[in-house]
Amino acid sequence: MSLMRNALLWGSQSKRLQDTLTHYSFFQSAVKRFMPGEDLGSALAAAEASQVEGISAIITHLGENISSEAEADLVTRHYVEVLDHIKKRKLDANVSIKLTQLGLDISTDVAYKKLEVLMKRAAKQNNFVWIDMEGSPYVEKTLQIYKKAKKSHKNVGVCLQAYLHRTAKDLESLLPLSPAIRLVKGAYKEDPSIAYQSKADVDRNYMALVQQMLQHWGKNKNIIGIGTHDENIVRTVQAANGAKEQCEFEMLYGIKSGLQRQIAQRGYKMRVLISYGTHWFPWYMRRLAERPANVWFVMKNLVNR
Ligand code: FDA
Repeated sequence: MSLMRNALLWGSQSKRLQDTLTHYSFFQSAVKRFMPGEDLGSALAAAEASQVEGISAIITHLGENISSEAEADLVTRHYVEVLDHIKKRKLDANVSIKLTQLGLDISTDVAYKKLEVLMKRAAKQNNFVWIDMEGSPYVEKTLQIYKKAKKSHKNVGVCLQAYLHRTAKDLESLLPLSPAIRLVKGAYKEDPSIAYQSKADVDRNYMALVQQMLQHWGKNKNIIGIGTHDENIVRTVQAANGAKEQCEFEMLYGIKSGLQRQIAQRGYKMRVLISYGTHWFPWYMRRLAERPANVWFVMKNLVNR
């Protein structure tokens, strides 16, 4: 892992850095590259614009690690509203949540209770809830919650991270539940004892996991979400048997927009994940860490002020 990536991921967890950087206008305007705006209206408008180009959406309200049940209730109520807006505007858009945003740090029961509210509301509206995967201390609990949720709710999927050594086994344990999986490479700073560190190793594991899913998905019509901007992986997946029917490609707003349009034009399901909210600092630092060249973009904003 590069020094720069390490430093940016360390910075993503620094409250002091957050308090300092988020006040600078050059930093605020750099964020706009990855986020249409801080309010829900901007996210919905971006989803509407994408839909015109044949690209569906996933909408996420930024936030993580809340510490009281009252906050978890607020987040849950907000997502219920988001689901209602999606229905009203006739958008093909799912929602994606972080369990620590629904109270996982308080208890798994609290997080499950709030997730259940969202799954029920989404089911009523023929919609779908994705669960993000956070740093490694949360993986086991997230999978426990997902397994419980999947037993009584069809409309829920979970993210798995290809950089973790454990993921092949996790996937195997999920298969009997006919899961919906979004596979990503992984965005957090993880120790070499539990996570592949080089791009080559992560990419190799990513493709092995895709193969594992395609083989088992034959009878199961659930979604395989290919959550990556990696053109090699996109091409390899598209060439695989059954990819058009089983896979949906998922990318982040503002990254590889041309490729997103191309995928949709070729008749594959394409979703763009659109984030909004005021709590963007840790999320934005993870985006910088994914491509340290993005730091130059921030610096350009500073110079061109
Ligand atoms: P990789 O990092 O190899 O990048 C491939 C190419 O894509 C780069 O060469 C560059 O051109 C472009 N690119 C990638 N990131 C960029 C960036 N930030 N800025 C500009 N260009 C960039 N992670 C996680 O741990 N838990 C989660 O729940 C999710 N959820 C999620 C949902 C969706 C829909 C996506 C697309 C991603 C996530 N992630 C995630 C993030 C994921 O783990 C990973 O960090 C990023 O997708 C970057 O990795 P790539 O797969 O794009 O490959």
